[in-house]
Amino acid sequence: MKMIVCVSENFGIGKGGDLLFSLPPDMKFFRETTLNKVVVMGRSTLDSFPGGKPLKNRTNVVISRDKSFSREGATVFNSKEDVLSFIKKFDTDDVYVIGGAQIYEMFRDECDTALVTKVEKQVECDKFFFDIDSDESWQLVSQSEKMEYEGTEFSFCTYKNLKGGI
Ligand SMILES: NC(=O)c1ccc[n+]([C@@H]2O[C@H](COP(=O)([O-])OP(=O)(O)OC[C@H]3O[C@@H](n4cnc5c(N)ncnc54)[C@H](OP(=O)(O)O)[C@@H]3O)[C@@H](O)[C@H]2O)c1
Repeated sequence: MKMIVCVSENFGIGKGGDLLFSLPPDMKFFRETTLNKVVVMGRSTLDSFPGGKPLKNRTNVVISRDKSFSREGATVFNSKEDVLSFIKKFDTDDVYVIGGAQIYEMFRDECDTALVTKVEKQVECDKFFFDIDSDESWQLVSQSEKMEYEGTEFSFCTYKNLKGGI
């Protein structure tokens, strides 16, 4: 099970219910990485997608405390335990936790890998990913060369969870 996230220099991931950056190379990476896989997200992240619609060509798993919540094209669960039970039928390498802040926090110990796009900008934000560089459980194992898109510099980083994950 993996996490995939795009962070600012201060580990910000969102503001006002939206993403911080519109970075086409990262969107392409996200799409190609998660295509035909299972994506696990919080209800707020689902709501942030255009029209609140699930992502195409992926198995969309959504977590909400609202027992009456449903959305066409999404499989909704009310607890972490129910999600973990559901994903057992998939190869664990095919399951991606895609946010937001609450859901990354919920599954960080279960993930064995984190794919982190680091954007070299400090921006105002109200949702954060944890500081993975200061967390001794996580080790940076690869980092792409620095890339640039319309003046924004970024790199793709892979971290491994030294405590395992599932
Ligand atoms: N940069 C990135 O890579 C990235 C990726 C994804 C999202 N984001 C950003 O992150 C922000 C959203 O993050 P967020 O933390 O506000 O929301 P979130 O993690 O997407 O979803 C939170 C929701 O999940 C449900 N939930 C949380 N804990 C639960 C539990 N223990 N049991 C059952 N359901 C539970 C609740 O839904 P109910 O309210 O329905 O009960 C809660 O409101 C947005 O700004 C989004 O754009 C950024």
